[in-house]
Amino acid sequence: MKAVPLSASRILLIISGGIAAYKSLELIRRLRERDATVRVVMTAAAQQFITPLSAATLSGQATRDELFSLTDEATIGHIELSRAADLVVVAPATANILARMAGGLADDMGTTLLLATDKRTLVAPAMNVGMWLHPATQRNVDRLKADGVLFVGPESGPMACGEFGPGRMAEPPEIVAAIEQALAAGTALDDSRGAGLAAPGLEAAGVGPLAGRHVLVTSGPTYEPIDPVRFLGNRSSGRQGHAIVRAAVGAGARVTLVTGPVGLADPPGAEVVHVGSAQEMREAVEAALPADAFIAAAAVADWRVENVASQKIKKGERGFPTLRLVENPDILAEISNKATLRPAVVIGFAAETENVAANAKAKLRRKGCDLIVANSVADGASAFGGDTNQVEIIDANGAESLPPMSKADVADAIVRRLVIELSKRQ
Ligand code: CTP
Repeated sequence: MKAVPLSASRILLIISGGIAAYKSLELIRRLRERDATVRVVMTAAAQQFITPLSAATLSGQATRDELFSLTDEATIGHIELSRAADLVVVAPATANILARMAGGLADDMGTTLLLATDKRTLVAPAMNVGMWLHPATQRNVDRLKADGVLFVGPESGPMACGEFGPGRMAEPPEIVAAIEQALAAGTALDDSRGAGLAAPGLEAAGVGPLAGRHVLVTSGPTYEPIDPVRFLGNRSSGRQGHAIVRAAVGAGARVTLVTGPVGLADPPGAEVVHVGSAQEMREAVEAALPADAFIAAAAVADWRVENVASQKIKKGERGFPTLRLVENPDILAEISNKATLRPAVVIGFAAETENVAANAKAKLRRKGCDLIVANSVADGASAFGGDTNQVEIIDANGAESLPPMSKADVADAIVRRLVIELSKRQ
């Protein structure tokens, strides 16, 4: 399949009607900064939130909205418009447009283009948490994934409606990264329609400095259940771990990603195993061995609840519930200390709030890994959920301090170091 660089790409952006539509203006700006051509189509509902004029001003192209516009159709017809793009992006994608896409409806300009296109579609859902979790929406999402539609997000967080949970649209930089991945994997809809997300990128494996290597990566948080509806979790977004997966795939490795719950698209080209708890993560990691390298980027919960309730705990019945915590398996330490099947290079992470280098060195020794990527989560450059990171790569002999940079660049630096470490051990 033909890869298209973002700088030469033509993106057809369909904006549907949600409060997150304002973020789509930022998305247009970021795509234009990267020299992509952006053609915007807005649904009628989207125009309640932002105007076609703002989208046209930022994209530098007329915004389309009406299916039966004589003037527009005379310039470029809707079929041509759908095919002239390299990728169709729906951001925000409301529950309504996902339902219309899943049902194959073509009742306005946006949905007509979605049905007529011969290219892949990437959607960034945005809606209230209840709407996202509704079985009808989840059914539509499954249907669309089976049809080969790519997803980025939604993320969890506070929502415009005052509720909290999954449903927030992915941030524009995250959408740009997903667009770049999709373009790199090739977006023409041919026989691969329905093959799912991972298929196109697999063709890239086998070329590059990690060709023939198997790299196993953990990413994201783990969720430790309290009862059927509640859990203990942490703020890890999974962005750094997922960026490492993309970098390792780019370097030609066969990559297995074991990820906790995150609001990110599965990186193309990797085999992705989704898990919830630390124990599930440990099992999936063990099952994925042997590997040449193990990179533990996940923020594994240190404890789990011993007395998980089989039914939802009701408040007020017996005072406050008492949660008994027990320690989780330390996956990194276990893999580092394996007698057989120990990967040649084991890399851990250390997120510290103080004495970063000293704590990280102690962790390197305690866990028995070969390298530790240490960062301070106390300051701005490495905040959880952010796009940048400032790390030190520490081994038994010393530390390499990197300047603040994007998580993608940190991932490239880690993969470059991995290549060196693997070659030393040959
Ligand atoms: N890790 C793991 N399994 C665990 C805990 C941590 O695999 N149960 C891994 C993480 O993926 C990371 C590294 O160990 O690569 C360090 O995680 P961190 O939470 O910083 O270390 P802890 O061992 O939890 O130490 P502390 O909380 O005392 O800093």
